[in-house]
Amino acid sequence: MINKSLVSINDYSKEDYLRIIHLAEEFEANPFKELLKNKIVASLFFEPSTRTRLSFETAVLRLGGKVIGFSDTNSSSVVKGESLKDTIKIVSSYCDLIIMRHPLEGSVKYSSVISKVPVINAGDGANQHPTQTLLDLYSIKKTQKTLENLHIVMIGDLKYGRTVHSLLMAMSKFNTKFTFISPIELKMPDAYKDMLRKQNLPFTEYHDMTDEIDKADVIYMTRVQKERFLDPLEYERTKNAFILKGNMIKNCKKNMKILHPLPRVNEISEEIDETQNAYYFEQAANGVFVRQAIISTILGTVK
Ligand code: CP
Repeated sequence: MINKSLVSINDYSKEDYLRIIHLAEEFEANPFKELLKNKIVASLFFEPSTRTRLSFETAVLRLGGKVIGFSDTNSSSVVKGESLKDTIKIVSSYCDLIIMRHPLEGSVKYSSVISKVPVINAGDGANQHPTQTLLDLYSIKKTQKTLENLHIVMIGDLKYGRTVHSLLMAMSKFNTKFTFISPIELKMPDAYKDMLRKQNLPFTEYHDMTDEIDKADVIYMTRVQKERFLDPLEYERTKNAFILKGNMIKNCKKNMKILHPLPRVNEISEEIDETQNAYYFEQAANGVFVRQAIISTILGTVK
């Protein structure tokens, strides 16, 4: 893990996930540690973000490091036509680590090959969001006390939602049972279902709301990803397909927690926010501890 890029959640093993979770627990207990003195981290966001960018930057600052970068490509030379290759080549000569979000799938992998320093994928198109997954694992472990043998129900945009793709890959290492609920146009891509079949992991798929949610340990809600649609009419047809309302969770398991990577548009009714099942705001807060663990591990400043 030291000095290596984190592009896909599959770059880390199950043992690596557990190591990051353990370290994150230590950062939650003691958030301010001077582990990044004299380290400079570049935060390059070619696509909008609130949680990922700000929690990464908070993580660096809590560890005593410094942040450079941009959150809007209009303030960088990208608008003058500079290539991604040149941008990464230059920025990697200024810093010790790059954190990068980009709308193109594969762009972070490409950048990791160009870069002189490790690159962390903060989301590349509909492909992967591995640090979100590590904070999701942390949140699941914290609320369920285990990652093994759980039933996860994923609801919403399972086609373009990169967070569900990374989470499925990670949780498949913990004997998880999956249920997928989505509009037919936004179903879980076959490549991910084939991955589960190869591992003999059970999954069911629905295109209507189902009482399978009563059996869930975790409901993972997702937003319909407007920015990924080529056809605006398809977005209009699917955007309100699945809205989780209070009456839908009245028979749920006592331990059931609702996670959502956020931002939410309307897919979780606000009445749920006050229930004991809502965990999405705490989940976002956990992101700082997990990203402290990831950064200090990659930079080799923590044992
Ligand atoms: N969860 C997540 O990636 O949120 P942001 O888009 O705000 O970073």
